[in-house]
Amino acid sequence: MINIAIFASGNGSNAQRIVEYFQDDHDINICRFYCNNPHAFVIQRAKNLEIPCTLFNKADLMAPGKVIQTLKDDNTDWIVLAGFLWLIPSYIIKRFPNRIVNIHPALLPKYGGKGMYGARVHEAVIQNEERESGISIHYVNEQYDEGHIIFQAKCSVSEHDTADKLASRIHQLEYEHYPLIIEKLIRSTPAK
Ligand code: GAR
Repeated sequence: MINIAIFASGNGSNAQRIVEYFQDDHDINICRFYCNNPHAFVIQRAKNLEIPCTLFNKADLMAPGKVIQTLKDDNTDWIVLAGFLWLIPSYIIKRFPNRIVNIHPALLPKYGGKGMYGARVHEAVIQNEERESGISIHYVNEQYDEGHIIFQAKCSVSEHDTADKLASRIHQLEYEHYPLIIEKLIRSTPAK
């Protein structure tokens, strides 16, 4: 079994979609959610889906301890970020080389970097009168949103769009592509 850990900070709709996608898979298993925000709805989703969820704070993440120990105990193979807002520290990146992926709700390298997440990204896209946006799935390195881009998909942006409308179109793209790209990556990467 290939074990995937999903890190999320908020609503967790992508996390849920990924769990549902792999529900009947014989090779790929979502072993746990990790969440840094005790008020995030993703915690409730984990309960509903019967997925263990580990809540952690900055100290747990920044130095080797609870997070890396739990990843090891679960025999985690891949880490998938799905709306996770903190930087992954380098000791975790080194332990999972090319096995951590993120989804960003814009066409990187535009509209990425620290502080660019969720609605802020869509507001900036609309403010700049962009006529297209989209999603970027990329490997995670030590900088926000700068790892190698694996996949992008585009959607149009109209002059009448609001951040909410754009967010829901982007979410649809994410639900459509993220689980498939994760599956392709895992199946084409030799096991450790
Ligand atoms: C998603 O749109 C994801 O791309 C974005 O947060 C949203 C989470 O939604 N991630 C970032 O902005 C990371 N910089 P969800 O919690 O419903 O899956």
